[in-house]
Amino acid sequence: MRWRTDPLLVVEHLTMRFGGLVAVNDLSFDVGRGDITALIGPNGAGKTTVFNCITGFYKPTEGRLALAREGRATREDVAALTQSPTRNKRFAEGDLYLLERMPDFEISWKARVARTFQNIRLFQGMTVLENLLVAQHNPLMAASGMTVLGLLGAATYRNAEKAAIDKAKAWLEKIDLMDRADDPAGELPYGAQRRLEIARAMCTDPDPALPRRAGGRSQPERVARPKQSPALHPRRPRHVGPADRA
Ligand SMILES: Nc1ncnc2c1ncn2[C@@H]1O[C@H](COP(=O)(O)OP(=O)(O)OP(=O)(O)O)[C@@H](O)[C@H]1O
Ligand SMILES: [Mg+2]
Repeated sequence: MRWRTDPLLVVEHLTMRFGGLVAVNDLSFDVGRGDITALIGPNGAGKTTVFNCITGFYKPTEGRLALAREGRATREDVAALTQSPTRNKRFAEGDLYLLERMPDFEISWKARVARTFQNIRLFQGMTVLENLLVAQHNPLMAASGMTVLGLLGAATYRNAEKAAIDKAKAWLEKIDLMDRADDPAGELPYGAQRRLEIARAMCTDPDPALPRRAGGRSQPERVARPKQSPALHPRRPRHVGPADRA
């Protein structure tokens, strides 16, 4: 329950409108660093829309999504960044990001937010191992000097490539798919594809990983919170701003 003492992500007054339809209405919640947190709600409640706002696929109509990497941001830190025209700033212990201001690729690359999808989206024709290497494209490209060093076979690139393969192998062990490393991802059974998708997200070294449920329309969600906006479970009694815990 670190959302009180060490929040990683603070969502405040998130609203997303599609024309006249209000998909998410004034939603606030905190996600604690290292906590496993679930977003529950009935079909159409707006869960996917919240994920899409956090990952930058949608720009929220209103609201603030403050993510503090490696440290606790105070209310003053968040307020100062909100007042400034920038998207992120360094503060005493780490980096603070306003995700609603960032394009999706920066949210993944700089703020280190990774996600999986309700419907599996692997590179079906690539091998299992290649799917995990693609996830490490950014460090590999940096080490390759935007390709040149890679072409020349420079040591920095070879080391980065080895590190990427080692990390991929470690995840293949964890998800018990080492023996399928060279098979096309599309040939794996559904459960294995889901595990691979989670491993691929983890290979980007994310802070918050946002895995989706297994897909389909689940009865437990309907039972859990009927006729309400999406809410975190366990539900918070009220919104607590970052400074309340700082
Ligand atoms: N791009 C969009 N354009 C218009 N309306 C949208 C869009 N995306 C979502 N909506 C609407 O917003 C509402 C919330 O949808 P959303 O997909 O976020 O719900 P959900 O909680 O993920 O549902 P499910 O449990 O079925 O996955 C729905 O009424 C949906 O039709
Ligand atoms: Mg959904």
